[in-house]
Amino acid sequence: MSTQPKKRVGVLISGRGSNMLSLIEAAKAPDYPAEIVVVGSNRPDAQGLERAAAEGFATFALDHRLYGKDREAFEQDLHAKLTEHNVDLLVLAGFLRLLTPWFVNQWQGRMINIHPALLPSFPGLHTHERALKEGVRIHGATVHFVTAEMDVGPIISQGVVPVLDGDNPEDLAARVLAVEHQIYPKALEAVASGKAKTEGFRVKIEGSTPSKETFIY
Ligand code: GAR
Repeated sequence: MSTQPKKRVGVLISGRGSNMLSLIEAAKAPDYPAEIVVVGSNRPDAQGLERAAAEGFATFALDHRLYGKDREAFEQDLHAKLTEHNVDLLVLAGFLRLLTPWFVNQWQGRMINIHPALLPSFPGLHTHERALKEGVRIHGATVHFVTAEMDVGPIISQGVVPVLDGDNPEDLAARVLAVEHQIYPKALEAVASGKAKTEGFRVKIEGSTPSKETFIY
């Protein structure tokens, strides 16, 4: 078992929180290098908040709508909440708010995100619809470090799924989501253990083989 103290993780969500639950499950392993200390949301009604509270985790909601256009005031409060819980690593799990460079800078190298596409293809929204429209044969999910530009940042892990004849966006979303639940806990493990090292735009994972960080289903 590692003698390193576990990294304290904050998870931010906006919706149902299925990725968050996969992280919660993984973090139950005694030798997992991270512990989830708080789950926050910009939506007080996010289903995932209830699920986290039911699992006994501290939660908070900061309703971004109450801040109007003042993104920085929202982010300063968010940052304060995370600091209150002594968060070391910030994990975005379906957190659907754009973050300003100020916030990103506070968490530089310590904030990761999961995106439902094989970046740099299909950044932004409606990734499954767009993948079908473009006729790609493979699709998937990406875990990456967050930088100021949306859905851009050093890639830690990717999971690949086939696009099948007859797929609709919901079929594809479900296939990709299953992969997300596999790759996110592994990517967080690599980051929290310090094995994921960024060199320029590439992330090298110590002691890992490519097949361990690339999941093809
Ligand atoms: C996931 O598919 C995640 O990749 C996506 O939102 C979903 C959240 O589901 N994130 C984004 O689109 C971010 N750009 P979950 O709440 O069940 O984890």
